Amino acid sequence: MKRYNVAVVGVGAVGEEMLRVLKQRNFPIHTLKVFARSARTILVDGQEYNVEELTNDSFKGINIALFAGTEGEKGAAVTYAPHAIKAGAVVIDNGADFRMNKDVPLVVPEANPQDAKKNRGIIANPNCSTIQMVVALAPIKKRAGLKRVIVSTYQAVSGSGRGGVIQAEKEFKAWATDSDETVPLYMDQKIAFNLFPHIGSFGDEDYTTEEWKLVKESRKILHDPRMKISATVVRVPVRTGHSEAVYIETQKPITPAAVRKLLEKAPGITVLDDPKNKIYPMPKDCEGCDDVFVGRIRRDPFVKNGLWLWVVADNLRKGAATNAVQIAELLIK
Ligand SMILES: NC(=O)c1ccc[n+]([C@@H]2O[C@H](COP(=O)([O-])OP(=O)(O)OC[C@H]3O[C@@H](n4cnc5c(N)ncnc54)[C@H](OP(=O)(O)O)[C@@H]3O)[C@@H](O)[C@H]2O)c1
Repeated sequence: MKRYNVAVVGVGAVGEEMLRVLKQRNFPIHTLKVFARSARTILVDGQEYNVEELTNDSFKGINIALFAGTEGEKGAAVTYAPHAIKAGAVVIDNGADFRMNKDVPLVVPEANPQDAKKNRGIIANPNCSTIQMVVALAPIKKRAGLKRVIVSTYQAVSGSGRGGVIQAEKEFKAWATDSDETVPLYMDQKIAFNLFPHIGSFGDEDYTTEEWKLVKESRKILHDPRMKISATVVRVPVRTGHSEAVYIETQKPITPAAVRKLLEKAPGITVLDDPKNKIYPMPKDCEGCDDVFVGRIRRDPFVKNGLWLWVVADNLRKGAATNAVQIAELLIK
């Protein structure tokens, strides 16, 4: 079997999960290089990884470079992805910098695997909240068409990186120990015993950048540039696992039972939908899993072809690391 030289850039919340997923899925690795801003040794599930400082010359001989660094002008991908591509690697980037570039495929393997082949050296991994919604919507769109989507998210603190988890843990600890220590904010608001409808920054039409990501990325992945979709995103005091209440109106009628059957057969989805027996997806049960979990499938009693879904997934795995590694698997298939 052919083996590949792989680089992982960033060892934060997503990068660490990336190392775990590569190992768990037995990705055929010849050599693995791990990079971050500073060199050190890290321990993931008892295995030591030697982290090197990332430089322009780090990508010599690398076939696949999985980027999980920071976003923005001075971020890891903008600064170093061009060097990786020049060195002959295919970059799979977790950040938002290249997602809407028309020459960069934005890929969810369950929805648009064929787009991965059109890459010119870089493929973007969508935002975590987009990935799980699109996995659930793609089969429904194919069967019944989608007229409209309205989504409200309940996003875990690990979605804002390691800093978000540290802030939440410190706030809960301060409460539990009756401490009046001031916990520095990594997110926009306090999170213990709270939630806030603000992820990213406020922009066009008073939606946040995270809300626009859900709109624009879903349209691109589902090849439906005019899809009517709007979102409200909310940060909640859950460590890992994003939940979404997704309301859809389909073009053709489809019953909740038919949706259940369709999603049960769809790749990457587990249906947990027996509310009378208290069975529905919850983030605490999805942590560490690769599937997208769907439940509470029910019709809108008042709107023709209106349906609700409750969609939960681990934002660090399917929402980031697993999806990126699945893209790498598509490339070597
Ligand atoms: N968290 C999620 O649920 C999630 C989901 C989907 C996508 N994403 C995206 O995935 C990326 C990583 O997110 P995260 O949550 O893992 O962030 P994080 O916990 O803040 O970790 C960022 C990592 O990137 C490294 N890094 C930052 N700038 C770098 C540079 N210029 N050169 C080399 N390494 C650099 C950092 O290095 P040091 O450790 O040396 O500081 C750190 O290891 C972001 O683009 C994020 O938007 C995150």
